[in-house]
Amino acid sequence: MSETARIILDGKEYELPVIVGTEDEKAIDISKLRSASGYITIDPGFKNTGSCKSAITYLDGENGILRYRGYPIEQLAEKASFLEVAYLLIKGDLPNQKELDWFVNSITKHTLVHEDMKRFFEAFPTDAHPMGILSSMIASLSTFYPESQNPNRSIEDVELTMHRVIAKLPTLAAQAYKNNMGHPVVYPNNGLSYTENFLQMMFGLPTEDYKVNPVVNDALNKLLILHADHEQNCSASTVRIVGSSQANLYSAISAGIAALWGPLHGGANQAVIEMLETIKNDGGGLQKWVDKAKDKSDSFRLMGFGHRVYKNFDPRAKIIKKAADDVLDALGIDDPVLEIAKELEAVALKDQYFVDRGLYPNVDFYSGIIYRALGIPTDMFTVMFAIGRLPGWIAQWKEMVEMGEPIGRPRQVYTGANDRNYVDISNR
Ligand code: ACO
Repeated sequence: MSETARIILDGKEYELPVIVGTEDEKAIDISKLRSASGYITIDPGFKNTGSCKSAITYLDGENGILRYRGYPIEQLAEKASFLEVAYLLIKGDLPNQKELDWFVNSITKHTLVHEDMKRFFEAFPTDAHPMGILSSMIASLSTFYPESQNPNRSIEDVELTMHRVIAKLPTLAAQAYKNNMGHPVVYPNNGLSYTENFLQMMFGLPTEDYKVNPVVNDALNKLLILHADHEQNCSASTVRIVGSSQANLYSAISAGIAALWGPLHGGANQAVIEMLETIKNDGGGLQKWVDKAKDKSDSFRLMGFGHRVYKNFDPRAKIIKKAADDVLDALGIDDPVLEIAKELEAVALKDQYFVDRGLYPNVDFYSGIIYRALGIPTDMFTVMFAIGRLPGWIAQWKEMVEMGEPIGRPRQVYTGANDRNYVDISNR
């Protein structure tokens, strides 16, 4: 017999179904609770609330497990290419060679962006944050491809939109960077792989051939794979909820980029390096900062430490820590900020406050370190995260559409003023 939960409200008992996932995760289904009892549940930050059933990513925060479509993240990061992982997330299975060739060719064909978009870049201030530019640019793609706005579009049209956004995001990101630097834009080179092409658009010049460093390219491939999906995080939930109103995919992804920007989410990788630089410039040693992070009257937190779901270790952090060491060795980088990172990690990991709360370095503690070593400027770090996370957002959006999920619209418990009469302004 299947398990149920019982709840007693105002002396009346209600039986609620229990849903069990393929990894034995259990959830109480409260979808009929309000209509039966008048009660809703409340859970700020959705810490105990499942918003959907999903077959994309499995994450066990207690045991540090992360799998995309059943494949362990460690194996994918070691063996796969980023576009192979994108295919896996979106389509559900690893592609065979023919399927991968089709996917890669189609994405490669769409790397150029409409020349009219150049005028948008001209209008942004030169020091505009690239995440603001990227979010606006991706939303504006919907105006160049108006067919994407039709919620009843064909499967082929939807597929084309997905390929376009995967193809164009790196082009727009690199253009945002070049704009910021005052450098000429480097056009995509469709003879290169996805990651190589991004590196040449970022670091190449129209006047010379750009040579891709394989160590840098491998590290980038790994980083993008590690960020490719993370089930119902803040930005993925945002993409699903925006998409649930049948807004087009470009707009939903643009909203996902906006959600990712915040320092408590994707913006943490930028915040980590800024924090390390502050610590270095302060010159007062590390303990002071660890103490500040522990002090409840001080809003300072150790950026790159802690995670909503990983309370033992972040499996991505393990892989990326090794990649960071390899990259620093291979590139022969000796950077005092990176030394501070290592020392801070050692101090915090021994400190009882961090041990008691299960606060460990998360993926973004190390990803910022690698991006810095690769020469990517700090305010582009979150952009790199967005490029990595894009297939996950698309997969989450597609699943939401295919499952026919209703529009996302939570309830609330109202705590404001009771009914009162309007008072004329002269009597207030
Ligand atoms: N530094 C100091 N104390 C911390 C930190 C930190 N980085 N993170 C959590 N804590 C403390 C909290 O003060 C709280 O202490 P208390 O129990 O004494 O009140 C306890 O640890 C639990 O923290 P919560 O904020 O309740 O945990 P939550 O799951 O809500 O937050 C979050 C997770 C937002 C990631 C948090 O750890 C944080 O702010 N970290 C720094 C920002 C960061 O690195 N974000 C990147 C996340 S990874 C990603 O998005 C890919």
